Amino acid sequence: MNTKVWKVDNYVDKLESNPQIVDAARFLQDNEVVAMPTETVYGLAGNAESDAAVSKIYEAKGRPGDNPLIIHIAEKQQLEPFVLEVPEKAEALMDAFWPGPLTIIFKKKQGALSKTATAGLDTVAVRMPNHPVALALLKRCGLPIAAPSANSSGKPSPTTAKHVLDDLQGKIAGVLDGGATGVGVESTVIDCTERIPVILRPGGVTKEQLEAVVGEVWVDRALTDEHEKPKAPGMKYTHYAPNAPLYLVSGTRSFIQRLVDEKQQAGLRVGILTTEEHKEEFAADFVLACGKRADLETIAAALYDTLRRFNQMEVDIIYSEMFPTEGVGHAIMNRLQKAAGNKIITQ
Ligand code: TXA
Ligand code: MG
Repeated sequence: MNTKVWKVDNYVDKLESNPQIVDAARFLQDNEVVAMPTETVYGLAGNAESDAAVSKIYEAKGRPGDNPLIIHIAEKQQLEPFVLEVPEKAEALMDAFWPGPLTIIFKKKQGALSKTATAGLDTVAVRMPNHPVALALLKRCGLPIAAPSANSSGKPSPTTAKHVLDDLQGKIAGVLDGGATGVGVESTVIDCTERIPVILRPGGVTKEQLEAVVGEVWVDRALTDEHEKPKAPGMKYTHYAPNAPLYLVSGTRSFIQRLVDEKQQAGLRVGILTTEEHKEEFAADFVLACGKRADLETIAAALYDTLRRFNQMEVDIIYSEMFPTEGVGHAIMNRLQKAAGNKIITQ
């Protein structure tokens, strides 16, 4: 399959009638799948009402069939045909954070949407992305759109159109290239089907921000206890892993340097994932700065690109610094722990 690339200028007026968007929307109406930028990561979009389109999403990504997709909408009224009820707290969260990096789980109406999209569950995950290209595409096609991150299953999520093409070229009908995404880690997933909302995946909207709107919010126990089964099926899979083994190191920089020296003496090529502040302090084969420690949002934005860059290097082992878990740091450390398969070295 020839994968079309549509370059889009995010900030032109009336993006909905831009020829690239019109073309991509037609593909969606024909049940083909196309990648689109969102404010978090690129998504692989397909008509959520069509089994054929949804199957193409799973196939292109190599995604396990028991992992449901997030449904993307451009207007709140689009919820009505497929959501059974909108609890008060969900309403408050939508008002506060949509469009934006928050996915809300609702009870699903029977018979609505492709069963494959929700992996046969009686709940459905929905979000309204805050990106001009995604919103214009959603409005133009007028469909509820299923869109997982547009990477091959298991790889780091894509934050540029190039990342999408590296994984999916030839497997999807097209990609709308709107440049690098902003947040860099996926949306927060919150289950609003119970009295107290539960965070199933940490992301762009923090627990503190959510609690400021709806009061008490719980966190799925699986996020802190690896023996618990996660409530978001996708959270049980290994993810984001670079090709070389990655270790998180809890210790001083001189401790990390000692680990590097030992491995180099054993003939291995060593990579370090650090930040702008510390990059000059390490001597290793590859030292990659992932944003600035003083601003965790820059680390989130650069994280997946940094993990992907290690795959272009002849590196045998990678050590990463740890980051504070407040705010978006919770999502950063969650993704890094997955990328490392929970391998942590403590000084
Ligand atoms: O930022 C994002 O959320 C991106 C962009 C493209 O919107 N999308 C994304 O989708 O990250 P994906 O498919 O990579 O991750 C969706 C997560 C998975 O962990 C999945 O298991 C969970 O949401 N999920 C989806 N529907 C669910 C449901 N009904 N109940 C529990 N978890 C659900
Ligand atoms: Mg994903």
